[in-house]
Amino acid sequence: MILVTGGAGFIGANFVLDWLSVSDEPVVNLDALTYAGNLENLASLKGDPRHIFVQGDICDRELVDRLFAEHQPRAIVHFAAESHVDRSIHGPGDFVRTNVNGTFTLLEAARGHWMSLEEAGKAAFRFHHVSTDEVYGSLGPNAPAFSETKTYEPNSPYSASKAASDHLVRAWHHTYGLPVTTSNCSNNYGPYHFPEKLIPLMIANALAGKPLPVYGDGQQIRDWLYVTDHCSAIRAVLAKGTPGEVYNVGGWNEKPNIEIVHTLCALLDELKPDPAGSYSRLITYVTDRPGHDRRYAIDARKIERELGWRPAETFETGIRKTVAWYLVNQAWVGHILSGAYREWVDTNYAGR
Ligand code: NAD
Ligand code: TYD
Repeated sequence: MILVTGGAGFIGANFVLDWLSVSDEPVVNLDALTYAGNLENLASLKGDPRHIFVQGDICDRELVDRLFAEHQPRAIVHFAAESHVDRSIHGPGDFVRTNVNGTFTLLEAARGHWMSLEEAGKAAFRFHHVSTDEVYGSLGPNAPAFSETKTYEPNSPYSASKAASDHLVRAWHHTYGLPVTTSNCSNNYGPYHFPEKLIPLMIANALAGKPLPVYGDGQQIRDWLYVTDHCSAIRAVLAKGTPGEVYNVGGWNEKPNIEIVHTLCALLDELKPDPAGSYSRLITYVTDRPGHDRRYAIDARKIERELGWRPAETFETGIRKTVAWYLVNQAWVGHILSGAYREWVDTNYAGR
C-alpha cells in the first residue's frame, strides 16, 4: 500500500481517485482537514476498503511513526502543504510549520521506517515529494522555461517554504541515501479546486454575478496543467523515476491571467448564458499582489524523454471539462462558501 499526505485537498484528492481507478493497491490518506481539506472530494470512495482515511497532522511524529509501523507502506506521496500564495502573504507562519517542519517530520519518520527494511524493501521504497515551479522564481518575457537545473529563486513565503522542503528532501537522499524523488509542477486546474484560486474563484464569482478581480495588469503568465495529467506524471515518477532525481511537470500552456479570465467568461456565456450580458462585464482590475511573480513556464522535456510521460489534455479540452464540472457541482462549491471562506474573501479583497 501507499501512504498519501494531503489527500483531501485539491490535487491529493484527484490523485487518490485517479490511483484507485487504475490500481487496487490501497491508500492510507493522512490529512489534517485544514480549511483546504474536504472529505466531500472523496465521497465516491465511501465504504471502499482500499481507502483508509486518517485525520492528523504531518508534524505529529508519533502519529506518522505509527502509520508507517501499522501499514508498512512501500511508498509515500507527499502533497500536504499550505498552498495559497495570497494566504502566505497574510500569514506565513503556517507555511513554515507545515511545508518545512512537516516535510522534515515525514522525512525522519520515513528514514526510520526505511532503515528497518530488508535490502529488497529498502531498494523498492520511495518518498515522492510534490513540489511547485514557483521555487524557481520569476521569468523574463524571453527567458527559457524552467529546467530541473534552474537556480532556486523563491519570492513568496509560499514558494520559499516549498523551496526549503525541496532542499530537505534532496539532502535526505544525498546524506542518508533515502530513495526520494521530487516533481516540480506548474499551476494545476480541474475538479475540486478550492475557490480561492484563480480559475475556480472566477467561475464562482461569475455565476454569483460578483466582480472578477484581476490583479495588476492581468499580464502575469502561468503555465497550466489539467490536474489528472499531474496525477499521471506522479504515477510515472513513482513507477519509473530514479531515486535522487527531480522531474519538472507542465503542459506547455503559458497563458496570461487576463486571457484565462476571458476564456472562462466565453465558456460560461456558451454553457450558462446570463440574461444580463456577457460575464466579461464583471472583470475588475484590482491592486496587484505584493511581490507578484510575472511569469512561470516549465520545460517538461526530461520527464517525457526519460519516463515517456505526456499530458493527455490540451488547455482547450481541460478548461472546458473544468467549467462543465463546476456547473454540475454547484452544491460542492456552495458547501465551501461558509463563514471561514467569506472571512478570507473579506481579508484578501477588502483592501484592493
Ligand atoms: P490544497 O491546499 O488544495 O490541499 C492541501 C491539503 O493538505 C489539504 O487537504 C490540507 O487539509 C492538507 N494539510 C495542510 N496542512 C496539513 C498538515 N499540517 N498535516 C496534514 N495535512 C495538511 O493544495 P493543492 O493545490 O492540492 O496542492 C497539493 C501539493 O501540490 C502542495 O504540496 C503544493 O505545493 C503542490 N503543488 C500545487 C500546485 C497547484 O497548482 N495547486 C502546483 C504545483 C504543486
Ligand atoms: P493562484 O491561482 O493564486 O495561483 P499562483 O499564485 O500559485 O500562481 O493565482 C494564479 C494567478 O492569478 C496569479 O498570477 C495571481 C492571479 N490572481 C488574480 O489575478 N486574481 C485573483 O483573485 C487570484 C486569486 C489570483
